[in-house]
Amino acid sequence: MSTENILQLTKGLRILIVGSGARENAIIKSLFRSKYKPLIFCFGNTRNPDILLKSANFRLGDINSPAQVTAFALENKIDIALVGPENPSEAGVGDELLRSGIRIVSPTKEQAKLEWSKTFTRDLLTKYNIDGSPMYKAFNTMDGVEDFINTMGTKFVIKADGLCGGKGVQVQDDHFVTIQEGLKFCKEIIDAKGSFLIEQKLEGQEFSYFALCDGQNIQFLSPIIQDHKRAYEGDEGPNTGGMGTYSDSNHLLPFLNDDDKVEAENITKAVFEAMKSEGVGFVGVMYGGFMKTRNGVKLIEYNARFGDPECENLMSLLETDLVEILVNMANKTLDTINIKFSPKASVCKYLVPIGYPNKPIKNEAIDISRLFVEGDIEENWESIFFGSVDETEVVNSDVGDFESEEYVDDESEEPVIMLKGSRAIAVCCVGDDISEAEAKVEDIIGLIDGPMFHRSDIGKVDYVATKVEMMKNILR
Ligand code: AMP
Ligand code: GLY
Repeated sequence: MSTENILQLTKGLRILIVGSGARENAIIKSLFRSKYKPLIFCFGNTRNPDILLKSANFRLGDINSPAQVTAFALENKIDIALVGPENPSEAGVGDELLRSGIRIVSPTKEQAKLEWSKTFTRDLLTKYNIDGSPMYKAFNTMDGVEDFINTMGTKFVIKADGLCGGKGVQVQDDHFVTIQEGLKFCKEIIDAKGSFLIEQKLEGQEFSYFALCDGQNIQFLSPIIQDHKRAYEGDEGPNTGGMGTYSDSNHLLPFLNDDDKVEAENITKAVFEAMKSEGVGFVGVMYGGFMKTRNGVKLIEYNARFGDPECENLMSLLETDLVEILVNMANKTLDTINIKFSPKASVCKYLVPIGYPNKPIKNEAIDISRLFVEGDIEENWESIFFGSVDETEVVNSDVGDFESEEYVDDESEEPVIMLKGSRAIAVCCVGDDISEAEAKVEDIIGLIDGPMFHRSDIGKVDYVATKVEMMKNILR
């Protein structure tokens, strides 16, 4: 579609973003930079200090309520809606928006099954002969579980079906050691009326590779990104939503080559076609979590949304106007644009509350005032993305259960930013190489005060080298 047509279409375009975390903050920052100057609306569950500045209209509410989100969208005559996190999609927010005649660029509940049912996705790959799964089997009773594990004869992984916020996967040697310990975990899932997959444990390096889909067309977002799920330095400790990410200037990772990229693309393209053949189709972000192994690239899982923090990397590198991308997605003309990213590296690190993820402190204030007086003030603000925090000054919310008043600092009347218990602030910078981007991130993190920690190793030259070395050993 020509720029002229888009300009016509986007005059006063009203875009709704559902969600108010760091991923949605990154999307909104990108929309705010657009030359089309869309009106940005946000329906969120926290008062994100940057979104409050950039969004024409912010509403605090239950993002998992299809009725609340849709009422807000109708009231504001929204043209295009994008749902950020996974839970609202599983709850049917997209479906309700569609029923009300609002165009969405994210999945319906059925399409999002790619993320919320690991069994559905594995079975889809099997049904369409798509190479990329490890050995696996689905169970909803304990019958045959032990036999299957013994027949597989490898280390194994247990995956609870359904959304578990990245915490439903138990990996042998990481989370449990013996088969009996694994069986105990399986039994807990069954007792809670759940079902699960047993999968062969894969060894290798993981990477995230994203594609946008409009139901008919698919387009890959070229920078491949590596996230770090473990809470502590050296990839130790409990799993988290993701502590930090990096991407390289050639849009590959130091342990990947072009063939690996093509292998991952082939899996995602085949799954996209399979969804069409199933009559479901897919609209939104197909986020492939892959692992490069001795036996080629394997699929760990799909998510039906942007990754967090990967979205911060992508939006920081994106050169194409996001409004053009969203309009083409909504029009099912994704094939007519060429989505470009800057040939630069990026690093993103999360500041998280002390005690995260198991016993995070909450409702403590953080201080970002030094961001406005030290270093490159504009770059500081462009590089930070607010996650699980809440700005407490705004009081005219229409949601009753929000406990803001108790946080307001009456004496200063300055807005206070409070920790809400999960990943608090992502800092993402771009550089000519990974190490330049990493150094910038550390400089900005040094300006943010509060009871938080981050992983300093992410993106450091020596640490990236250990991943390349690990991969070499596996391939040897
Ligand atoms: P998920 O919730 O599916 O993202 O899984 C969380 C983490 O579990 C992944 O990032 C991997 O590190 C690990 N994992 C999942 N499936 C496997 C597998 N088949 N082999 C090895 N590790 C896995
Ligand atoms: N990067 C991890 C996630 O978004 O699930």
